[in-house]
Formats: sequence, structure tokens, C-alpha cells
Amino acid sequence: MPLPVSPTGRSLPWPTPGLAFGGDYNPEQWPEEVWAEDVRLMQEAGVTIVTVGVFSWGALEVADGEFDFGWLDRVIALLHEGGIAVDLATPTASPPIWLHQAHREILPVSRTGERYWQGGRLGWCPSSAVFRAHALRIVRELARRYGEHPAVRMWHVSNELGGGNRLCYCDESAAHFRRWLDERYGTVAALNEAWGTAFWGHQYTDFAQVLPPRDSESTPNPGLVLDFDRFSSDALLEHYLAERDALREVTPDIPVTTNFMVAQGPGVVDYAGWAPHVDVLANDHYSLSVDPNREQELAFSGDRMRGLDVTRPWLVMEHSTSAVNWQSRNRSKAPGELVRNSLTHVARGADGAMFFQWRASTAGAEQFHSAMLPHAGTRTKVWRDVCELGRILGALAELRGTLVERPQVAILIDDQAGWSWNSGQKPHHDLAPSHAAREYHRALWERGVTADVVPPHAPLHGYRLIVVPALFLADDRAAAAVSAAAHAGATVVVTYLSGIVDETDRVRAGGYPGAFRELLGVFVEEFFVLLDEEQLSLDNGWRATTWSEWVHADAAEVVARYADGPLKGHPAITRRAVGEGDGAGAAWYVSARLDHRSLGALTDDILIASGVRPTVPVAAGLEAVRRVGETGSYLFAINHSGEELRVPASGQDLVSGSRADGTLVLAPGGVAVLREDA
Ligand code: GLA
Repeated sequence: MPLPVSPTGRSLPWPTPGLAFGGDYNPEQWPEEVWAEDVRLMQEAGVTIVTVGVFSWGALEVADGEFDFGWLDRVIALLHEGGIAVDLATPTASPPIWLHQAHREILPVSRTGERYWQGGRLGWCPSSAVFRAHALRIVRELARRYGEHPAVRMWHVSNELGGGNRLCYCDESAAHFRRWLDERYGTVAALNEAWGTAFWGHQYTDFAQVLPPRDSESTPNPGLVLDFDRFSSDALLEHYLAERDALREVTPDIPVTTNFMVAQGPGVVDYAGWAPHVDVLANDHYSLSVDPNREQELAFSGDRMRGLDVTRPWLVMEHSTSAVNWQSRNRSKAPGELVRNSLTHVARGADGAMFFQWRASTAGAEQFHSAMLPHAGTRTKVWRDVCELGRILGALAELRGTLVERPQVAILIDDQAGWSWNSGQKPHHDLAPSHAAREYHRALWERGVTADVVPPHAPLHGYRLIVVPALFLADDRAAAAVSAAAHAGATVVVTYLSGIVDETDRVRAGGYPGAFRELLGVFVEEFFVLLDEEQLSLDNGWRATTWSEWVHADAAEVVARYADGPLKGHPAITRRAVGEGDGAGAAWYVSARLDHRSLGALTDDILIASGVRPTVPVAAGLEAVRRVGETGSYLFAINHSGEELRVPASGQDLVSGSRADGTLVLAPGGVAVLREDA
């Protein structure tokens, strides 16, 4: 599958001939003697591309307008001689000290009005004109100097935009926010209506009176908070686009990327809104040591990344070879885990696997973060696994451009809905916006069913099963699309906390879940939040925690009722047949948060009802995903268990080089990628 078309009308090339393999390379941290060894070891590991210069502004522009490109010239030449491609970063994630000293006003301001200090990274306000001018100057210098260099195959704009400077409350941001509001609402009356400012008598009479949601020692207006989140994403996007366009002016045919942080969300920016502007969609993913289901979380993030645009491959730009340094306890990876983790990303549509970072730093903020080349050198588990991964990715080169076999299930997720749930006071304050998406995904993952985790405005045509998990905010367009899919024959499962507010963050009155009430044939009169230790039984033996609701099944059949507590006898799960004949779909409503076992039982039921089948018959611990394309059909089989697993499949295993005829035998912790027999 091609990347988007460049401004000159050419299909942009993927940066490497096969799959991308490498990581952030920060040679400026090392004496030049080390560089030759770096390139030699990169070759030994099978590295094909490295990201250079992410944090090197201070080393490239040593004083205002004074550039030193000599070292970067030499590094890029060395990499090129070694056959390693360069993903050249604009260094704007980390302004130099001289810039902060000269222009302290570029630093972001906190909610309480304090300006941050130099010494961190992303230390800049997205609306700062002074910062923008300095950033674009270095970007243009880089584009002109290296745009023609044959090693440079991709531009990497800044780094994790928003990861440190997501919200700036300074006066310049406030003025920018007001311009954004003026464009969105046109009149102050429309703004007052959207935010419901009659509450507490906070009507504005002029846009000039509006401020960001700065600390008032009270609860801010949730509509204001949500719009400030949206504005902040747009302000950062404006900056990204300014850098991208400066690069494109000089090198229109080099793809541009920037690294997202699509995990459990909501994102620091609205990634669905950003995706169309990024040529190579790239993600940074780090597992949490405390997450007992981290393999599934990894799959969830891959499915979410792919869901931003199911027609294109994406790239895992950063993950870790072993422990990170920023969690409370930083867990190391077991032997082989690095390979399984990377292949999970590739199985789910990544055309490569890259890491932070190439050589472990001995100094600086990340001196205890793992790397491809650890402090201890090459006589290490990490290095062996890195080399093994390089070998495997080399053997999978023919997969580049294939796509994940079209999933039959879509799970809806939305950064804006997440921000909305997080804005202001809510009925429950310890529920992550994406908890339900994660739980339904986990139930499907355990059953070997691959799902696209997609934004609500993604095309829903063709999915047999659509899950709408606690999608707190749903606009009319999203609600209509879900309804249309059910009428076209899909099974739709909507959970509690969905469609509660519209796009202005206003509650949809008349009974929850407002946006989906008609489709589901139910109305909810009140939420019944459960305390941490509370549980409820349903009359079919299932159990609920955390959340329950007083449901009226006006035009739906009751699948299960609450069996105890104040809601005893009331519907808990309902189903409404939608449409007729072959195109008949169904709309289920699940008003409670089910425990894991009960959610599994519900998932079995809805898989049968929708006719969705797993990729291959599943065994506990097996992750199986198929990619397909012109070169063939490829079955990824990843054994997360400590047992040998047998998978019914036939084909050539590109990992081991051996054949499977009818049964693929996977060693404990083993991986295989079968080019399946036609
Ligand atoms: C992010 C950043 C990297 C590094 C890693 C550490 O992904 O982009 O520069 O700080 O986190 O995990």
C-alpha cells in the first residue's frame, strides 16, 4: 500500500527498502571515535535506519544564527557509507539554553500562572511567535543542507509534540485561544450557549473577556476545558504544519513524520485530526511495568494506531529494548520478550520496529533507560535479542506494504470524548476514559479476534461487530454512522457512559445514552455508581462492578436483569433487532461494567450473534494476526505462554526457515511468521 501522494504528485516512498529497523541515534553525546563502532555494530544488528538529531539544536545552532553542521555532515556521511538510512529530525523538541536565556517568554506557563524554567524539553509555548521564528530558521537550514543527501529518507518533525508542552496558559496562548473561539463560534452568544455560561452567571459579552481555564480554586466550566484541549491540539498542529511546510518547500518528495503517543489515551493531541497531515504515521509505545495485561495493551495500542488510517502501514518509532527509567518500578524484559513485543507491533500493521535509543547514555536525564546497545555492551541479553530481531525483520522484508487482514470488528475510541470525560466533575472520578475500550479489546484479544480501534468518524462500512465502549461524547454524525451500520446488518454493542454529551460537552437530555437512545430502544433515568468494594449480580449469573444504571427497555428485549441491589428486577443488558431480512442488525446495550469473566461470556455471545471468527482457533497465550497483500498471506503467531503451542496452519516460516504442514509448533515464548500456502 502506498503512502500519501507528495505535493508534486508522486507517491511518497517508504524510507527503507524492507522493514525499518533502528532507533534514535544521538551521536553528539559521544566522542567521534565511537561513531565508527556504532555504524559497525548497527550493521551487525541489521539496522536499516536511524533517527538523528532529535535533541541536537544546541549542538547545531551554537549561538543565535551561528551554525555548526560539521559534526552532522560527518555522521550522516558515515551512516550513508555504512548503508544506513537517516530519518533526520528537526531539533525543535529541545530549544538551546541560549534561546531560553534570550527569550524566557517562549517557555510555557502553568495553570496557576507560573512560567516554567529552562532545563526540560519541549520548553516552548505552541503559540509563541518568537519560538516559531527560531524553529523555522533551523528547520530551513537543515532542509537546505541535507534535503539532497541520499541518506536522508524521512523528516522527523520535533518529538512527541505535546508531551511536555500540551497546555500553555500564557497571555499569547490566551489571545490565540480567543481567535480560535471566534472562528469556531462566530458570536459570543453562540459561545455562551455552547458552554452554558448562564450557570454561575458567567456570560461573556466580548471574546476579549475569555481566558484559558486558569486556576480559580474552583471547578472550571467543562465546555471551556474541552475547547481549550481542542485548541491546544490545534495550536500544536499549526506548529507541526509550519515545520512540515517549511520542509516540503525544499524537499516535497521526502515523507514527513512525527511521533505520536497513542496508548490508552486520551492523547495529548487529537491524533485522529492529525493523522491526515502525517505521511508516515508513527507511534511511540512503552508498556507499564504494573500492567498485568501488558501484551494485550501493546496489541491495543497497535490496533489503535492502525485504526487512525487502516489503508496505510505505520511505524513504531520508539519502544524499549528493556526497562525504561520513568516509572515507579522499571521492569526489565525477559529473554525473547523484546522480539515478541516488536513482532506484535509488526503483526498489527507496523512496517518496522524502532527504539529509543541506539546506545545507552551514561549521563543526562535518561542515563538509566535501556537501549539497543546497553551500558554492558554486546555480551548481553539485550544485544542478542536486538540482533535476533534485526535478523527476523530482515527475513520479513517482503511483508512491507502488506496490510492487516481486514478485521470484522471495530472498537470506537476518541481523544475528544476522553477529554470531555476528564473535563470538570463527573459521577465517577477514577475511571479512565478508555477503560471500557481496553476491556472489550482484551476479551476479543483473548479470543483471537483482531479489532480495528478507530475514531468515531472512520468509515464503519463492512464491520460485522461494532463496539461503542463508554464513548462519553458523541456528535450527531457519529451517532448516525453507528445507527446506519446497525441498519446495514452490523451487531452494535453500546456500553454505559456512551453518547452522554454532544460536541459542546452539553448533556443530551431526555434520558441517557442520549445519542444512541433511539437505536437501542432504551432510556436510562439515573446512574447508580458502585463503590469500590460493591458488586452486583445479574439474573444470568454475570457480575457487575463500578457502574450500573436504572434502565427502561421501551423498545428492546431484555437479555439480563439486575438480580440484587436497588436496581433488582430492572434491565441490565438489552438487545434490539434493527432492520429486516439479510441486512438485519442488532443493537445491544450494556448498562453495567461487567467483571472479566462475565464480559468474556457476553463476548462469546456477541461473536456468535455477529458471526465473527478468530484468525485461527485460539489457545491461551497465543496471539495470531494475519497480514495480506500482493506478496501473499502471512500469519503471525506469537506464543506469550510458557507452554509449547500447536497452531493449525501450513506454510513457510520466515523466522525459522522451516515449513509447517498442517500444524505449526511454537516453542514457549516462540514466534513464527508463516507465508501461508495459497
Ligand atoms: C519518549 C521520548 C524519548 C525518550 C523516551 C523514554 O518516547 O520520545 O526521547 O525520552 O520517551 O522512554
